[in-house]
Amino acid sequence: MVIAPLSADVLCNGVNMKITITKNEQKFDQRAAWTIIGQMLSKPNSVIGLSTGETTKNMHKIVSDIYKANPFLTEEVRIFNVDELTNLPRTYAGSCFSMIKTQICDNLNIPEEHFIMPPTFSDDFELECRNFDESLEKAGGVDLQMLGIGWNGHIGINQPGTPFHSTTWVSPMDPIFEARVRKETGVDDNYPLGGLTLGIKSIMNMKKVVLIAKGKHKAEIIKKALKGPVTTDIPASVLQLHPNCEVLLDADAASML
Ligand code: GLP
Repeated sequence: MVIAPLSADVLCNGVNMKITITKNEQKFDQRAAWTIIGQMLSKPNSVIGLSTGETTKNMHKIVSDIYKANPFLTEEVRIFNVDELTNLPRTYAGSCFSMIKTQICDNLNIPEEHFIMPPTFSDDFELECRNFDESLEKAGGVDLQMLGIGWNGHIGINQPGTPFHSTTWVSPMDPIFEARVRKETGVDDNYPLGGLTLGIKSIMNMKKVVLIAKGKHKAEIIKKALKGPVTTDIPASVLQLHPNCEVLLDADAASML
């Protein structure tokens, strides 16, 4: 029987991690939204990393709705997304830039210069990766990252096999996702698509990470990531070694723990 929200320090391979389990998806969305708002209220010039996807859509909406009803200080907040697609227009509705801009930045009146994102086109993506890392460092380092997890344990676009010492880089896309993006954008097959993502090392250097997952389809990978060995086969498992990582799950995602 799950009592919500249930917080516990769970021993994962010898490491204590705070895991919060909400009784349903709605409570998860609210809890996740308040984590972001709490960070903005406690440190108005926070640097906050977000993730795109189904896990985060509602939480971004709740943050926006709360701001609309009761505006709070956002002029100094810096927002970025943990990853971005490359070689397609930023205006594509599926670019992380577009999604985060419309889901949260515009709604919260975050000044444009405080939305830190790499470009989607460049002649030198290696340089863009260094620039992205440097902009976050210059802003004071990442205070909070709301971090989604993919079905195979990927974080950002660090797919299984990514070395733990990776810094920000352009990773190949998952083939199923790539096919969808090509269909939606019409980008030619010969033109390379990729994902610029903060690397595992960059994520491990953040001051606080909250790993977020909801739904039954995430239960198995959450079990592997939190209770299994720390391995590059499951990139999210490295978070067991992060000094300040919390986990927020709904009851379905936690059902195999
Ligand atoms: C994509 C994104 C990740 C995100 C993951 C989970 O791969 N690049 O940042 O965390 O999907 O997405 P969803 O929340 O839709 O399951």
